[in-house]
Amino acid sequence: MSIKTSYKEALQNKIFSIISQASQELNVESYVIGGFVRDLILGRDFKKDIDVVAVGSGIELALKVSQLIPNKPKVQVFKNYGTAMLRFEDTEIEFVGARKESYQFESRNPVVENGTLQDDQDRRDFTINALAISLNSSNYGDLLDPFDGLKDIANKILKTPLDPDITYSDDPLRMMRAIRFANQLNFEIEENSLQSITKNAERIKIISGERIVDELNKILSTPKPSTGFLLLYKTGLLDILLPELTALNNVEEIEGQTHKNNFYHTLEVVDNICPNTGDVWLRWAALLHDIGKAPTKRFNKKQGWTFHGHEFLGGKMVKKIFERLHMPLNQKMKFVQKMVMMSSRPIVLSQEEVTDSAVRRLVFDAGEDVEDLMTLCEADITTKNPNKFKKYHNNFIIVRNKIVEVEERDHVRNFQPPISGEEIMEIFNIKPGREIGVIKEAIKEAILEGVIANDYQAAYDFMLKRAAKLGLKIN
Ligand code: CTP
Repeated sequence: MSIKTSYKEALQNKIFSIISQASQELNVESYVIGGFVRDLILGRDFKKDIDVVAVGSGIELALKVSQLIPNKPKVQVFKNYGTAMLRFEDTEIEFVGARKESYQFESRNPVVENGTLQDDQDRRDFTINALAISLNSSNYGDLLDPFDGLKDIANKILKTPLDPDITYSDDPLRMMRAIRFANQLNFEIEENSLQSITKNAERIKIISGERIVDELNKILSTPKPSTGFLLLYKTGLLDILLPELTALNNVEEIEGQTHKNNFYHTLEVVDNICPNTGDVWLRWAALLHDIGKAPTKRFNKKQGWTFHGHEFLGGKMVKKIFERLHMPLNQKMKFVQKMVMMSSRPIVLSQEEVTDSAVRRLVFDAGEDVEDLMTLCEADITTKNPNKFKKYHNNFIIVRNKIVEVEERDHVRNFQPPISGEEIMEIFNIKPGREIGVIKEAIKEAILEGVIANDYQAAYDFMLKRAAKLGLKIN
């Protein structure tokens, strides 16, 4: 085992000397390992979670550490997996016993067989994540780097410690972790590994939707998610996870007419939106905004290629994807669905003259999410024609200004009908029935069209006229 350098000065956090003391008292070796060491060497911000491996019982070490801390923090023990966790100040420290097998990473399989530090390092995902720093008094601060992880960090390479087929079949989620790290850290995946991922891609099917989505979210949270999605595509993983997206990857030609490749367009839209939002759900909306285009694509001589109703169908497909990947079926899903369903509205609007009533309808339909919708649609402008690019963006500036103007005047963003159904029943002394809906709808339409102002008196006067047409009079 090669010992490269001392990282003693990097172990500033008091917790390291406490763990060291606990190890000594128990006569158990301990090491800090994984992401903390990797990020330390990369010079990234300090992680708020630290992994410690004990050559012995991780649980006993955690309990001992807790005893040595004045406020004796609570130790959370996961007996089945042989791990324990405690909080120290603002960090979470996870303790695990060194293992011969790597199943502890896939928590469904609590197979545990004690091993040495080297056994444990062998079974980690990447050489850069297998780096360990000793917390033992004999060599405190020494880096233990059996696979030349330091070199791989310097060369920006992701490589598995063992044969990639073994490392990836131990936990197939690692195929996605490879791609996620490549994307986050701007690293290359070593060719052997890339081939192994391509060969083993199908194995991702045994991984739970939750773990997969966790990785997808991390890829979507990088400044340039297209890098990760292209790797997912290249290795065949995307076809398994999101076939709705890969179905967009074609360009057909009929009678000399082509349509754009909506897969690459989508990736561009996702990258475009990143500087303007950190909201992962809006980024999901960018990713899925065109998925309805593959199933709705048609060609006719008059119009050429059409995708009629793709937004509506796309919105329905969003729900299916969320269900399939076990994503939350809550407000977040509804938000993504709404963004996809409305994704063409501001574009259509900006291509025509921007009228007050069209903007009022947009604000009414999008409600609180109107700014997010605009952000999505601006990212959707991927034309390479500089004149068109400028024109569309200018139009969006006009739309944005109009949104503010119309909203200040008409307050339709959180539209509440100025006159309620109960009031209508009372005024005309009628029982619940069709007329109430008709009157309410007519008032709403009149406000959105700008026929009347959005206030009580205007709505009241309008109501009287509309009700008269239905033969209703004030009681
Ligand atoms: N690990 C692994 N295989 C996995 C998950 C984790 O080998 N499927 C190991 C790696 O050594 C990793 C460590 O466990 O460094 C901690 O895992 P985790 O906290 O998930 O990731 P980090 O590497 O710390 O990075 P990040 O927090 O950015 O995900």
